[in-house]
Amino acid sequence: MSSERSYVSVAVRYGERIRKTLSDMGLLDGDYKVISEDGTLFLPTVVEVSPNQIRQNSSDKSSLKTGKRVFESVVQGRRTLTEVLEGRLTPAELALLPRAFDLIGDIAVLEIPDALSHHSRLIGRAFHDIHRNFKTVLAKRGAISGVTRTRQYDLLYGEDRTKTIHTEYGCRLAVDVEKAYFSPRLLEEHNRVAQLVEQDEVVVDMFCGVGPFAIHIARQKHAKVIAIDINPSAIDLLKESISLNKLIGSIVPVTADAHDYVKRHRLKADRVIMNHPSGASEFIPDACRILKSNGTLHYYDFMGGPSPEATMTEKITRLIEQEGRSVKQVTAIRRVRDSAPYEYQMVADVIID
Ligand SMILES: C[S@@+](CC[C@H](N)C(=O)[O-])C[C@H]1O[C@@H](n2cnc3c(N)ncnc32)[C@H](O)[C@@H]1O
Repeated sequence: MSSERSYVSVAVRYGERIRKTLSDMGLLDGDYKVISEDGTLFLPTVVEVSPNQIRQNSSDKSSLKTGKRVFESVVQGRRTLTEVLEGRLTPAELALLPRAFDLIGDIAVLEIPDALSHHSRLIGRAFHDIHRNFKTVLAKRGAISGVTRTRQYDLLYGEDRTKTIHTEYGCRLAVDVEKAYFSPRLLEEHNRVAQLVEQDEVVVDMFCGVGPFAIHIARQKHAKVIAIDINPSAIDLLKESISLNKLIGSIVPVTADAHDYVKRHRLKADRVIMNHPSGASEFIPDACRILKSNGTLHYYDFMGGPSPEATMTEKITRLIEQEGRSVKQVTAIRRVRDSAPYEYQMVADVIID
Protein backbone atom coordinates (compact mmCIF):
# COMPACT_ATOMS: atom_id res chain seq x y z
CA MET A 1 0.00 0.00 0.00
CA SER A 2 1.27 3.49 -0.81
CA SER A 3 0.21 6.80 0.63
CA GLU A 4 1.16 10.48 0.36
CA ARG A 5 3.09 11.53 3.48
CA SER A 6 4.98 14.56 4.71
CA TYR A 7 8.76 14.11 4.63
CA VAL A 8 12.08 15.58 5.66
CA SER A 9 14.84 15.11 3.09
CA VAL A 10 18.56 15.22 3.77
CA ALA A 11 21.83 14.18 2.06
CA VAL A 12 22.45 10.45 2.57
CA ARG A 13 25.61 11.04 4.65
CA TYR A 14 23.58 12.88 7.35
CA GLY A 15 20.58 10.58 6.98
CA GLU A 16 21.13 8.32 9.99
CA ARG A 17 21.59 11.24 12.41
CA ILE A 18 18.45 13.00 11.18
CA ARG A 19 16.49 9.72 11.16
CA LYS A 20 17.45 9.21 14.84
CA THR A 21 16.55 12.82 15.73
CA LEU A 22 13.12 12.44 14.10
CA SER A 23 12.60 9.11 15.84
CA ASP A 24 13.57 10.58 19.26
CA MET A 25 11.14 13.46 18.60
CA GLY A 26 8.32 10.96 17.91
CA LEU A 27 7.99 12.37 14.38
CA LEU A 28 9.32 9.55 12.16
CA ASP A 29 6.48 7.61 10.51
CA GLY A 30 7.74 4.05 10.95
CA ASP A 31 4.85 2.64 8.94
CA TYR A 32 6.44 3.83 5.66
CA LYS A 33 9.72 3.01 3.91
CA VAL A 34 12.51 5.58 3.75
CA ILE A 35 13.32 6.49 0.11
CA SER A 36 16.90 6.89 -1.11
CA GLU A 37 17.17 8.78 -4.40
CA ASP A 38 20.15 10.49 -6.07
CA GLY A 39 22.14 10.87 -2.84
CA THR A 40 19.14 12.15 -0.84
CA LEU A 41 17.12 10.36 1.85
CA PHE A 42 13.40 11.09 2.15
CA LEU A 43 12.21 10.35 5.72
CA PRO A 44 8.41 10.04 6.16
CA THR A 45 6.99 11.99 9.13
CA VAL A 46 3.73 11.74 11.09
CA VAL A 47 3.03 15.50 10.75
CA GLU A 48 4.48 18.35 8.66
CA VAL A 49 7.72 19.39 10.34
CA SER A 50 9.75 22.56 9.86
CA PRO A 51 13.52 22.16 9.43
CA ASN A 52 14.03 24.62 12.32
CA GLN A 53 12.24 22.32 14.75
CA ILE A 54 14.67 19.53 13.87
CA ARG A 55 17.71 21.77 14.09
CA GLN A 56 16.65 22.78 17.61
CA ASN A 57 16.81 19.11 18.60
CA SER A 58 19.97 18.21 16.72
CA SER A 59 23.49 19.63 16.58
CA ASP A 60 23.37 18.78 12.87
CA LYS A 61 23.64 21.74 10.53
CA SER A 62 23.00 19.69 7.36
CA SER A 63 20.59 21.19 4.87
CA LEU A 64 17.08 19.84 5.33
CA LYS A 65 14.07 20.18 3.09
CA THR A 66 10.43 19.27 3.64
CA GLY A 67 7.51 18.42 1.40
CA LYS A 68 5.01 15.70 0.52
CA ARG A 69 5.34 12.61 -1.67
CA VAL A 70 4.11 9.06 -1.96
CA PHE A 71 5.75 6.44 0.29
CA GLU A 72 5.34 2.66 0.30
CA SER A 73 4.04 0.95 3.43
CA VAL A 74 6.71 -1.02 5.38
CA VAL A 75 4.52 -4.09 5.47
CA GLN A 76 3.55 -4.59 1.87
CA GLY A 77 -0.17 -4.82 1.74
CA ARG A 78 -0.44 -4.41 5.54
CA ARG A 79 -3.89 -5.69 6.35
CA THR A 80 -6.61 -3.48 7.69
CA LEU A 81 -8.96 -4.39 10.57
CA THR A 82 -11.65 -5.00 7.94
CA GLU A 83 -9.45 -7.49 6.06
CA VAL A 84 -8.39 -9.35 9.22
CA LEU A 85 -11.96 -9.63 10.48
CA GLU A 86 -13.62 -10.45 7.17
CA GLY A 87 -15.69 -13.62 7.57
CA ARG A 88 -15.83 -13.22 11.38
CA LEU A 89 -17.99 -10.09 11.39
CA THR A 90 -20.98 -9.45 9.16
CA PRO A 91 -20.58 -6.87 6.34
CA ALA A 92 -22.73 -4.45 8.37
CA GLU A 93 -20.45 -4.91 11.40
CA LEU A 94 -17.29 -4.54 9.28
CA ALA A 95 -18.59 -1.17 8.09
CA LEU A 96 -18.71 0.01 11.73
CA LEU A 97 -15.08 -0.84 12.58
CA PRO A 98 -13.07 2.10 13.97
CA ARG A 99 -10.79 3.76 11.40
CA ALA A 100 -8.88 6.13 13.72
CA PHE A 101 -6.98 5.29 16.91
CA ASP A 102 -5.16 7.26 19.60
CA LEU A 103 -1.61 6.00 19.90
CA ILE A 104 -0.10 7.01 23.25
CA GLY A 105 3.35 5.60 23.95
CA ASP A 106 2.97 1.84 23.62
CA ILE A 107 -0.79 1.99 24.31
CA ALA A 108 -3.38 2.04 21.51
CA VAL A 109 -6.84 3.41 22.31
CA LEU A 110 -9.80 2.36 20.18
CA GLU A 111 -13.36 3.66 20.18
CA ILE A 112 -15.65 0.68 19.64
CA PRO A 113 -19.24 1.52 18.63
CA ASP A 114 -21.93 0.06 20.93
CA ALA A 115 -23.16 -2.19 18.13
CA LEU A 116 -19.75 -3.94 18.12
CA SER A 117 -19.19 -4.11 21.89
CA HIS A 118 -19.76 -7.90 21.95
CA HIS A 119 -16.80 -8.21 19.51
CA SER A 120 -14.50 -5.78 21.31
CA ARG A 121 -11.87 -8.33 22.43
CA LEU A 122 -11.77 -9.88 18.98
CA ILE A 123 -11.22 -6.41 17.50
CA GLY A 124 -8.49 -5.66 20.07
CA ARG A 125 -6.67 -8.88 19.20
CA ALA A 126 -6.99 -8.17 15.46
CA PHE A 127 -5.60 -4.65 16.02
CA HIS A 128 -2.61 -6.14 17.86
CA ASP A 129 -2.02 -8.66 15.06
CA ILE A 130 -1.58 -5.71 12.69
CA HIS A 131 0.26 -3.32 15.04
CA ARG A 132 2.45 -5.56 17.18
CA ASN A 133 4.52 -2.72 18.66
CA PHE A 134 1.62 -1.68 20.93
CA LYS A 135 1.80 -3.63 24.21
CA THR A 136 -1.69 -2.68 25.37
CA VAL A 137 -4.91 -2.19 23.41
CA LEU A 138 -7.67 -0.32 25.28
CA ALA A 139 -11.21 0.70 24.41
CA LYS A 140 -12.74 3.98 25.59
CA ARG A 141 -15.57 3.42 28.07
CA GLY A 142 -17.97 6.38 28.16
CA ALA A 143 -17.22 10.02 27.54
CA ILE A 144 -14.66 12.32 29.11
CA SER A 145 -16.31 13.82 32.17
CA GLY A 146 -15.91 15.48 35.54
CA VAL A 147 -13.59 18.21 36.67
CA THR A 148 -10.47 16.17 35.82
CA ARG A 149 -11.68 15.53 32.23
CA THR A 150 -10.93 11.78 32.44
CA ARG A 151 -12.68 8.60 31.38
CA GLN A 152 -12.40 4.87 31.98
CA TYR A 153 -11.04 2.21 29.64
CA ASP A 154 -11.53 -1.52 29.07
CA LEU A 155 -8.56 -3.75 28.34
CA LEU A 156 -9.01 -5.43 24.96
CA TYR A 157 -5.63 -7.05 24.55
CA GLY A 158 -2.12 -7.17 26.05
CA GLU A 159 -0.69 -5.82 29.30
CA ASP A 160 -3.26 -4.63 31.82
CA ARG A 161 -2.12 -1.03 32.41
CA THR A 162 -3.08 2.53 31.56
CA LYS A 163 0.32 4.18 32.11
CA THR A 164 3.02 4.75 29.51
CA ILE A 165 5.69 7.19 28.35
CA HIS A 166 4.62 9.13 25.27
CA THR A 167 7.06 11.08 23.07
CA GLU A 168 6.11 14.19 21.10
CA TYR A 169 8.66 16.51 19.48
CA GLY A 170 11.34 14.84 21.60
CA CYS A 171 9.47 15.55 24.88
CA ARG A 172 9.04 12.46 27.07
CA LEU A 173 5.68 12.65 28.82
CA ALA A 174 4.50 10.34 31.60
CA VAL A 175 0.84 9.66 30.83
CA ASP A 176 -1.81 7.62 32.60
CA VAL A 177 -4.81 7.73 30.30
CA GLU A 178 -7.22 6.78 33.09
CA LYS A 179 -5.89 9.05 35.85
CA ALA A 180 -5.32 12.35 34.01
CA TYR A 181 -6.34 14.03 30.76
CA PHE A 182 -4.02 13.65 27.80
CA SER A 183 -4.63 13.91 24.06
CA PRO A 184 -1.92 12.92 21.55
CA ARG A 185 -3.78 15.05 18.99
CA LEU A 186 -2.57 18.30 20.58
CA LEU A 187 1.14 17.78 19.84
CA GLU A 188 1.33 20.53 17.24
CA GLU A 189 -0.45 22.95 19.55
CA HIS A 190 1.94 22.19 22.44
CA ASN A 191 4.91 22.81 20.15
CA ARG A 192 3.39 25.90 18.51
CA VAL A 193 2.85 27.67 21.84
CA ALA A 194 6.34 26.69 23.09
CA GLN A 195 7.88 28.26 20.01
CA LEU A 196 6.16 31.58 20.75
CA VAL A 197 7.59 31.82 24.28
CA GLU A 198 10.51 34.21 24.65
CA GLN A 199 13.53 33.76 26.89
CA ASP A 200 12.97 34.53 30.61
CA GLU A 201 9.19 34.76 30.33
CA VAL A 202 6.98 33.79 33.25
CA VAL A 203 4.24 31.51 31.90
CA VAL A 204 1.22 30.36 33.89
CA ASP A 205 -0.50 27.22 32.55
CA MET A 206 -3.76 27.31 34.51
CA PHE A 207 -4.98 23.81 33.52
CA CYS A 208 -1.77 21.97 32.73
CA GLY A 209 -2.98 18.33 32.83
CA VAL A 210 0.14 16.11 32.74
CA GLY A 211 2.09 19.19 31.65
CA PRO A 212 2.78 18.87 27.91
CA PHE A 213 2.87 22.67 27.35
CA ALA A 214 5.19 23.09 30.35
CA ILE A 215 7.60 20.35 29.19
CA HIS A 216 7.67 21.62 25.58
CA ILE A 217 8.36 25.17 26.81
CA ALA A 218 11.01 24.29 29.37
CA ARG A 219 12.81 22.01 26.89
CA GLN A 220 12.98 24.78 24.30
CA LYS A 221 13.22 28.03 26.26
CA HIS A 222 14.85 29.52 29.34
CA ALA A 223 11.46 30.37 30.86
CA LYS A 224 9.66 29.72 34.14
CA VAL A 225 6.37 27.83 33.88
CA ILE A 226 3.95 27.70 36.80
CA ALA A 227 1.89 24.62 35.90
CA ILE A 228 -1.37 24.30 37.83
CA ASP A 229 -3.89 21.47 37.85
CA ILE A 230 -6.61 20.47 40.29
CA ASN A 231 -5.92 16.76 39.65
CA PRO A 232 -3.10 15.50 41.92
CA SER A 233 -2.43 12.52 39.60
CA ALA A 234 -1.79 14.92 36.70
CA ILE A 235 0.77 16.82 38.78
CA ASP A 236 2.46 13.56 39.91
CA LEU A 237 2.83 12.60 36.24
CA LEU A 238 4.22 16.05 35.42
CA LYS A 239 6.81 15.65 38.20
CA GLU A 240 7.84 12.35 36.64
CA SER A 241 8.17 14.00 33.20
CA ILE A 242 10.32 16.76 34.67
CA SER A 243 12.82 14.07 35.65
CA LEU A 244 12.61 12.40 32.21
CA ASN A 245 13.61 15.47 30.18
CA LYS A 246 16.62 17.76 29.90
CA LEU A 247 15.12 21.16 30.64
CA ILE A 248 16.58 24.56 29.88
CA GLY A 249 13.80 26.39 31.70
CA SER A 250 12.11 25.59 35.01
CA ILE A 251 8.69 24.24 35.95
CA VAL A 252 6.84 24.77 39.22
CA PRO A 253 4.19 22.00 39.44
CA VAL A 254 1.19 23.03 41.56
CA THR A 255 -1.78 20.92 42.65
CA ALA A 256 -4.55 23.48 43.17
CA ASP A 257 -7.75 24.99 41.94
CA ALA A 258 -6.47 27.66 39.53
CA HIS A 259 -8.94 30.22 40.87
CA ASP A 260 -7.84 29.74 44.52
CA TYR A 261 -4.17 29.69 43.58
CA VAL A 262 -4.35 32.95 41.62
CA LYS A 263 -6.29 34.56 44.47
CA ARG A 264 -3.74 33.52 47.10
CA HIS A 265 -0.52 34.32 45.18
CA ARG A 266 0.78 37.55 43.71
CA LEU A 267 1.50 36.24 40.22
CA LYS A 268 2.58 38.38 37.28
CA ALA A 269 2.66 36.49 33.99
CA ASP A 270 3.94 37.34 30.52
CA ARG A 271 1.79 34.56 29.12
CA VAL A 272 -1.21 32.55 30.36
CA ILE A 273 -2.32 29.25 28.81
CA MET A 274 -5.98 28.32 29.33
CA ASN A 275 -6.45 24.95 27.65
CA HIS A 276 -9.64 23.83 29.38
CA PRO A 277 -12.10 24.35 26.53
CA SER A 278 -15.17 23.29 28.48
CA GLY A 279 -14.47 25.61 31.43
CA ALA A 280 -11.83 28.25 30.66
CA SER A 281 -14.28 31.14 30.21
CA GLU A 282 -15.12 31.08 33.94
CA PHE A 283 -11.46 31.73 34.75
CA ILE A 284 -10.96 34.83 32.55
CA PRO A 285 -11.12 37.14 35.64
CA ASP A 286 -8.20 35.16 37.12
CA ALA A 287 -6.19 35.32 33.88
CA CYS A 288 -6.80 39.09 33.63
CA ARG A 289 -5.67 39.53 37.22
CA ILE A 290 -2.25 37.95 36.58
CA LEU A 291 -1.46 38.95 32.97
CA LYS A 292 0.97 41.86 32.62
CA SER A 293 0.12 44.67 30.21
CA ASN A 294 1.09 43.44 26.71
CA GLY A 295 0.94 39.86 27.99
CA THR A 296 -0.34 37.03 25.79
CA LEU A 297 -3.33 34.83 26.51
CA HIS A 298 -3.84 31.48 24.76
CA TYR A 299 -7.56 30.89 25.22
CA TYR A 300 -9.22 27.59 24.16
CA ASP A 301 -12.95 27.05 23.66
CA PHE A 302 -15.38 24.93 21.66
CA MET A 303 -17.04 26.78 18.77
CA GLY A 304 -19.50 25.84 16.06
CA GLY A 305 -21.73 27.79 13.72
CA PRO A 306 -21.03 29.25 10.29
CA SER A 307 -18.04 31.35 11.38
CA PRO A 308 -16.37 29.93 14.49
CA GLU A 309 -13.39 32.31 14.10
CA ALA A 310 -15.64 35.40 14.31
CA THR A 311 -17.62 33.95 17.23
CA MET A 312 -14.41 33.12 19.09
CA THR A 313 -12.99 36.63 18.57
CA GLU A 314 -16.23 38.24 19.69
CA LYS A 315 -16.45 36.02 22.81
CA ILE A 316 -12.88 36.49 24.05
CA THR A 317 -13.00 40.27 23.39
CA ARG A 318 -16.24 40.57 25.37
CA LEU A 319 -14.94 38.44 28.28
CA ILE A 320 -11.76 40.49 28.57
CA GLU A 321 -13.52 43.84 28.34
CA GLN A 322 -15.88 42.72 31.13
CA GLU A 323 -12.78 42.60 33.35
CA GLY A 324 -11.79 46.18 32.53
CA ARG A 325 -8.92 45.09 30.26
CA SER A 326 -8.76 45.40 26.48
CA VAL A 327 -7.63 43.30 23.56
CA LYS A 328 -4.68 45.00 21.89
CA GLN A 329 -4.33 42.41 19.13
CA VAL A 330 -5.62 38.98 18.20
CA THR A 331 -2.43 37.44 16.80
CA ALA A 332 -3.92 34.05 15.85
CA ILE A 333 -7.22 32.21 15.69
CA ARG A 334 -6.95 28.50 14.87
CA ARG A 335 -9.14 25.44 14.63
CA VAL A 336 -7.09 23.03 16.76
CA ARG A 337 -9.16 19.93 15.98
CA ASP A 338 -12.71 18.72 15.38
CA SER A 339 -14.55 18.17 18.66
CA ALA A 340 -17.98 17.13 17.31
CA PRO A 341 -19.72 17.31 13.95
CA TYR A 342 -19.56 20.99 12.88
CA GLU A 343 -17.79 21.97 16.11
CA TYR A 344 -14.10 22.70 16.74
CA GLN A 345 -11.73 23.11 19.61
CA MET A 346 -10.43 26.62 18.84
CA VAL A 347 -7.56 28.69 20.18
CA ALA A 348 -7.22 32.46 20.22
CA ASP A 349 -3.82 34.07 20.89
CA VAL A 350 -4.60 37.50 22.28
CA ILE A 351 -2.33 40.33 23.43
CA ILE A 352 -3.96 42.16 26.32
CA ASP A 353 -3.47 45.77 27.41
C1 LIG B 1 -8.31 19.72 28.77
S1 LIG B 1 -7.47 19.26 30.19
C2 LIG B 1 -5.86 19.95 30.09
C3 LIG B 1 -5.07 19.67 28.95
C4 LIG B 1 -3.67 20.07 28.99
N1 LIG B 1 -3.52 21.51 28.99
C5 LIG B 1 -3.02 19.43 27.78
O1 LIG B 1 -2.73 20.12 26.81
O2 LIG B 1 -2.88 18.20 27.81
C6 LIG B 1 -8.16 20.34 31.39
C7 LIG B 1 -7.47 20.21 32.75
O3 LIG B 1 -8.03 21.19 33.62
C8 LIG B 1 -7.96 20.67 34.94
N2 LIG B 1 -8.86 21.49 35.76
C9 LIG B 1 -10.22 21.49 35.77
N3 LIG B 1 -10.67 22.41 36.66
C10 LIG B 1 -9.58 23.01 37.18
C11 LIG B 1 -9.40 24.06 38.14
N4 LIG B 1 -10.43 24.64 38.74
N5 LIG B 1 -8.13 24.43 38.45
C12 LIG B 1 -7.06 23.83 37.87
N6 LIG B 1 -7.18 22.81 36.98
C13 LIG B 1 -8.41 22.42 36.63
C14 LIG B 1 -8.34 19.21 34.77
O4 LIG B 1 -7.90 18.42 35.84
C15 LIG B 1 -7.66 18.85 33.43
O5 LIG B 1 -6.41 18.26 33.65
